Amino acid sequence: MSDRPTMTTTAGAPIPDNQNTMTAGPRGGVMLQDYQLIEKLAHQNRERIPERVVHAKGWGAYGTLKITGDISKYTKAKCLQPGAETPMLARFSTVAGEMGAADHERDVRGFALKFYTPDGNWDLVGNNTPVFFIRDPLKFPDFIHTQKRHPRTNLRSATAMWDFWSLSPESLHQVTILMSDRGLPVDPMHMNGYGSHTYSFWNDAGERYWVKFHFKTLQGHKHFTNEEGEALIGKTREGYQEALFGGIERGEFPRWKVQVQVMTEEQAERTSYNPFDLTKVWPHAEFPPIDVGVMELNRNADNYFAEIEQAAFSPSNVVPGISHSPDKMLQARVFSYADAHRYRLGTHYENIPVNQPKCPVHHYHRDGQMNTYGGLRTGNPNAYYEPNSVNGPFEDASAKEPPLKISGDMARYNHREGNDDYSQPRALFNLFDEGQKGRLFSNIAAAMGGVPGEIIERQLAHFKLVHPDYEAGVRAALERLHGYKADTISAQPTAAE
Ligand code: NDP
Ligand code: HEM
Repeated sequence: MSDRPTMTTTAGAPIPDNQNTMTAGPRGGVMLQDYQLIEKLAHQNRERIPERVVHAKGWGAYGTLKITGDISKYTKAKCLQPGAETPMLARFSTVAGEMGAADHERDVRGFALKFYTPDGNWDLVGNNTPVFFIRDPLKFPDFIHTQKRHPRTNLRSATAMWDFWSLSPESLHQVTILMSDRGLPVDPMHMNGYGSHTYSFWNDAGERYWVKFHFKTLQGHKHFTNEEGEALIGKTREGYQEALFGGIERGEFPRWKVQVQVMTEEQAERTSYNPFDLTKVWPHAEFPPIDVGVMELNRNADNYFAEIEQAAFSPSNVVPGISHSPDKMLQARVFSYADAHRYRLGTHYENIPVNQPKCPVHHYHRDGQMNTYGGLRTGNPNAYYEPNSVNGPFEDASAKEPPLKISGDMARYNHREGNDDYSQPRALFNLFDEGQKGRLFSNIAAAMGGVPGEIIERQLAHFKLVHPDYEAGVRAALERLHGYKADTISAQPTAAE
């Protein structure tokens, strides 16, 4: 007898023949009762799940967060106490491309982290940029629609992108980063990560601090030019997967220095900018980064689908000592991600092993699709209610975050009024050397191919308010690349209009 395991149906019955369909006579037809054939075809039809509506193409690995600094005066989070070591998962991604997109495309990169802490999962779902394109969540679906394919041509539309950006000056900061060298990292290891939003810390004394998270690559920054990226895509569309997976297989474990910037509640009243505005950074000179520890990735997933595709990251996952802030974008994300997971993965997505907390879980939700835990979550088979007299799980007041004073009249406030969208992009522009500025101009001009002149002129007017050299540089690059002279470019036909 062979020691190979017996192949079975999903119900466990042995499969007698996995080569030949059951037929009436050798020529057929096929018997409807061949449930082994039907099960096989039915499963194949269900192998694909919806891809993420954004950030569909991704690469991930497991690792550890080690705390070497001491920020215990700011936060009671167990995973951030001196000496703590927390197992974690990272998933990097591009934003706009679908699942089959090439890795080396100019785009913002997602930098999503899940820390399996003793108090539950803490997810920090950030990007490789410290800011974002918009500051009001009502604009997120509009912005993302400009990144999607044109309904008729099924091609990406530069016109839609620049139309939206030129009408949304709050995007200037992020657009400048995206079009700079950092907009095309060579692989996930050679880029920084940022929590981007303002989050909060709170300590044992019930004091709250505002905080920004930074993950600085210890491999150094490395980027491709558009031309280098395009040449590479001609050879492989999977360069990031090859680099991350291959590096970890070879024992080359990438690391990031973890830092935080901390602001007191009193300081937040005095900044010249809104510290909860996602299009702004906190200048380092005012809020110096504090070293916290090191994050290392050191283990590949064994099954990409099960562990990386099914990973569910959500800004709603915070743990005692870490919480949210008044950032409107962050608050919308607290709703949006878990909702996306219930649609993409199913009601009980946190039962999937990669999403399971590594601490006891006790709650009173019951039933629902793919519920594999029965009454175990409460410890009593019939206690799906609270309060109860069967000693069921009970709230823990020590997990209550300090109260936050909020005031103001309920209204829809114009988020563009009184906001300076130009100073911080200018500070960034002034950091660039001549080579970096030249590449910024060409990258923007290249991305504007086929865009009508009136949209280009609207965008150039914004660049001019950042710095006259910015506008002049992009205008010259447009002329060089497209023969653009105010409004001639709109005459060029484009399939993506
Ligand atoms: P600083 O000079 O103190 O900080 C500059 C920051 O910019 C550093 O974190 C550096 O990141 C990053 N940086 C340096 N060169 C580039 C580049 N070519 N492209 C993108 N980022 C770069 O100044 P401020 O804190 O006042 O910030 C000035 C501008 O720098 C901001 O307006 C913002 O655009 C950008 N920036 C600021 C960050 C912040 O949190 N304050 C974070 C990232 C960017 P690194 O150390 O990794 O090289
Ligand atoms: C993925 C919504 C802004 C980073 C997603 C997904 C949704 C979403 C629905 C897919 C989730 C899934 O299917 O698993 C939103 C909304 C936003 C917003 C509504 C604004 C209101 C941002 C910002 C950042 C960000 C500001 C970064 C700072 C990411 C990342 C992923 C993602 C990294 C991929 C996570 C993963 O690897 O699974 N977003 N997003 N998003 N988003 Fe956002």
